[in-house]
Amino acid sequence: ALISLRQLLDHAAEHGYGIPAFNVNNMEQIHAIMEAAQEVDSPVILQGSAGARKYAGEPFLRHLVMAAVEMYPNIPVAMHQDHGASPAVCIQAIRSGFTSVMMDGSLMEDAKTPSTYDYNVAVTRQVVDMSHAVGVSVEGELGCLGSLESGMGEKEDGHGAEGVLSHDQLLTDAEEAARFVAATKVDALAIAIGTSHGAYKFSRKPTGDILAIERVKEIHARIPDTHLVMHGSSSVPQEWLDIINQFGGEMPQTYGVPVEEIQQGIKYGVRKVNIDTDLRMAMTGAIRKHLAENKSNFDPRKFLVDATKAAKAICKARYEQFGTAGNA
Ligand code: G3H
Ligand code: 13P
Ligand code: NA
Ligand code: ZN
Repeated sequence: ALISLRQLLDHAAEHGYGIPAFNVNNMEQIHAIMEAAQEVDSPVILQGSAGARKYAGEPFLRHLVMAAVEMYPNIPVAMHQDHGASPAVCIQAIRSGFTSVMMDGSLMEDAKTPSTYDYNVAVTRQVVDMSHAVGVSVEGELGCLGSLESGMGEKEDGHGAEGVLSHDQLLTDAEEAARFVAATKVDALAIAIGTSHGAYKFSRKPTGDILAIERVKEIHARIPDTHLVMHGSSSVPQEWLDIINQFGGEMPQTYGVPVEEIQQGIKYGVRKVNIDTDLRMAMTGAIRKHLAENKSNFDPRKFLVDATKAAKAICKARYEQFGTAGNA
């Protein structure tokens, strides 16, 4: 059944697990996520960006999600708007049947320029007022996550998101988080703790302690009833990077967030873990491999089945690694 994000994350908090929130744009990604959830009995967060609605077409995305809910009646599903750039985008999502919206007021409406704290509070509060009136959950964001396109730049040690601003300026401040939540009443808060979006997070292999886990603890202690969200949480699987490059791709060497670091975050209060890049890489790798090895094939179902299987394996692994499995 379709339920709100708040309901899902309350259960996760009560039982101390995290839930991966996978980005969806098409049927194959939704198949992969739902088949994996069914196999390991996991609750599901499907999240769609404004770009996803544009790609699929609003009615298509809506009906794909409803089809998933119909096909798996025993799996609780939250449909979440990822990175809503304005109250208008959030309203469009609610009208489309989403049970949760992210108002990303950390950036201006162009989704590029950093905003002021006051702007962030004002737009987020507005979205919370409207959403809560109709039972929809709201995620806000405070702090400076890496850029949506290419990360914030890296230091020589391969740590991401620290090259442009100092470490402390980039991380979410616990005191400010408490003020922000009191002023907006968000259900969930995306925090900046050293991750960035996309495949190019770290140029050297992370050696542990890459995330600001102490900061997670501090923030969680100040706002224990607000569910913490980690964006940019793809692990960038080396095996898929290798397959992509083995079969004609040209992706530079890069590293993501180690699963053990995410598990640390979950231990100290992270409940929603956003993952897009890992599924993109698995699907692309599987398709490249299939087409290279089956040069006479022209039936798209054949390579899309391989892509779905590849994505499904990652979903299943994350459900198990984050403790989501067994909680549907
Ligand atoms: O954080 C952004 C997600 O990876 C979605 O990306 O806007 O290209 O759909 P997108
Ligand atoms: P990744 O690029 O690390 O998969 O992060 C996705 C994300 O945070 C979507 O909001
Ligand atoms: Na989100
Ligand atoms: Zn994000």
